[in-house]
Amino acid sequence: MKAITHTKYGPPDVLELKEVDKPTPKDDEVVVKVYAASIHPDVWHVVSGLPYALRLMGSGLLKPKNQIPGTDIAGIVESVGKDATQFKPGDEVFGECVRGHQWTNGGAYAEYVSAPEDALAQKPADITFEQAAAVPTSGLIALWNLCDGALVQTGGKVLINGAGGGVGAFAVQFAKAFGAEVTGVDHTGKLDMVKSIGADHVIDYTQENFTHSDERYDLIFDIPGNNSLSSCKRVLKPKGKYVLIGYDHFGNAGKLWLGSLPRFFKLMMMSPFVKELPNLNFSMPNKKKSMLILRELLESGKITPVVDRTFPLKKVPEAICYLKEGHPKGKVVITIEHVTKT
Ligand SMILES: NC(=O)c1ccc[n+]([C@@H]2O[C@H](COP(=O)([O-])OP(=O)(O)OC[C@H]3O[C@@H](n4cnc5c(N)ncnc54)[C@H](OP(=O)(O)O)[C@@H]3O)[C@@H](O)[C@H]2O)c1
Repeated sequence: MKAITHTKYGPPDVLELKEVDKPTPKDDEVVVKVYAASIHPDVWHVVSGLPYALRLMGSGLLKPKNQIPGTDIAGIVESVGKDATQFKPGDEVFGECVRGHQWTNGGAYAEYVSAPEDALAQKPADITFEQAAAVPTSGLIALWNLCDGALVQTGGKVLINGAGGGVGAFAVQFAKAFGAEVTGVDHTGKLDMVKSIGADHVIDYTQENFTHSDERYDLIFDIPGNNSLSSCKRVLKPKGKYVLIGYDHFGNAGKLWLGSLPRFFKLMMMSPFVKELPNLNFSMPNKKKSMLILRELLESGKITPVVDRTFPLKKVPEAICYLKEGHPKGKVVITIEHVTKT
């Protein structure tokens, strides 16, 4: 099969399109014929091997352990492992092809991938493979950090910083679905899209710093993390909460060894003593249950994936550069044409 291969860490042009063996499923996995896959900033982190700490978190110390990048897919089940019971060949599915977190290569940028069945869900019939592939990692990050902690209250005022990116476009829609009044902050060119997915108010970060506003929020959901906790606290209501998602601006934050980790650990250590921070939670949420929630939200029309642009499989390096530098609205998606025989 054709696949994008990643044999050494570096800029996106270290990736090469090659012929490789088709995968076979482990007992609890299914092999999916991939029609679309998507990109998120952690794909750039794993391809570049930065920050270096990430290499110790499963991606491979000196070179990538799994040599096919990407974690998010949509496609059709081709074969199932001996203990996989949830899907059968011919089922249309979407989800992640990694078991735990997404700071590792999962094999998505290929004609076929073997994925754990618990990280997949049936694809809703009325969305395309491209739309479905745009959902998993970004949707899960938004869901786990915004909704699982019941942080969004009906009628509450929620500010989403970075609302026009991959995670932000889902966070806006989740917050609206939960009945909140939403303010989306992002780059000038993304604000029409942010309004179109339901934001009640928008702020252009190139013109205005939201922490200087007179508005007060019940929740700040902060993807870029470009303001300090103390300046964000200034625009929180007395019982308001602050959630940091964390964003290294594709290495431009300059923290090559540890990235955002020290800031996260500091907030975690502070959380028992700072009422604006959510409670400590070290457990990995249940991916299978979360994928079912995402499927229901898609089927009910409460969320609609925003796809900025698609690239063919051979252009994965260009697609990663576009995510980093092109100010995409929502998600960048890879489409995969099948020319090899099954
Ligand atoms: N906490 C978690 O559970 C968790 C788990 C996995 C991953 N992550 C992290 O979550 C992040 C997800 O990002 P994503 O997929 O949403 O990335 P993205 O698609 O690049 O979106 C980030 C958005 O933030 C905007 N932005 C940049 N600087 C800003 C500023 N100063 N003020 C307001 N908005 C600004 C960007 O706009 P521009 O186009 O202008 O740059 C972009 O629209 C990644 O960095 C990933 O590492 C978090």
